[in-house]
Amino acid sequence: MKRIAVLGSGTGSNFQALLEAENLGGEIVLVISDQSGAGILEKAERAGIAHDVVTGGGLCERILNRLDGIDLVCLAGFMRIVKEPLLGAFADRILNIHPSLLPKYPGKEAWVQAVEDGASESGCTVHYVDAGVDTGEVILQARVPVLPDDTPESLHARIQVEEHRIYPEAIRRVLS
Ligand code: GRF
Repeated sequence: MKRIAVLGSGTGSNFQALLEAENLGGEIVLVISDQSGAGILEKAERAGIAHDVVTGGGLCERILNRLDGIDLVCLAGFMRIVKEPLLGAFADRILNIHPSLLPKYPGKEAWVQAVEDGASESGCTVHYVDAGVDTGEVILQARVPVLPDDTPESLHARIQVEEHRIYPEAIRRVLS
């Protein structure tokens, strides 16, 4: 069984979806957050999964030091850019979920970008992480409509339903 670490800064709804997914092809054994109060840590605690907070300088090196025996790193709302030495040590073994149809709307709050742009559709993307911001090779995408009365929040909620569906599927593909 492959060993998966999840990195997140926020509520951790994607982490929860991965936990509940069947036949993921691996087991989530570790959660790391850069935010001490993050909901993702609470969810890990409740699920009995080892979890840790890593903050401050040299973040990527200190995270890497905790990844002994890990096969795959999944970013789930991790609001930091992954840099060396973590990036090189886990080349092609770090995935991210992003709330837009990349290459459209990279960076922060992609759902706000989509609404402000007047887009008629958006979605989400699971991709490999490289040195750029949301630029790595795409593994899987899902589309959702942007409705005329959407707020950024209502669009994000619709996107998240699809995130929770395609992230487990993408991991399954990568690990199989
Ligand atoms: C998701 O929309 C994800 O695409 C983005 O950050 C959000 C994290 O949400 N990278 P959650 O913490 O998994 O609920």
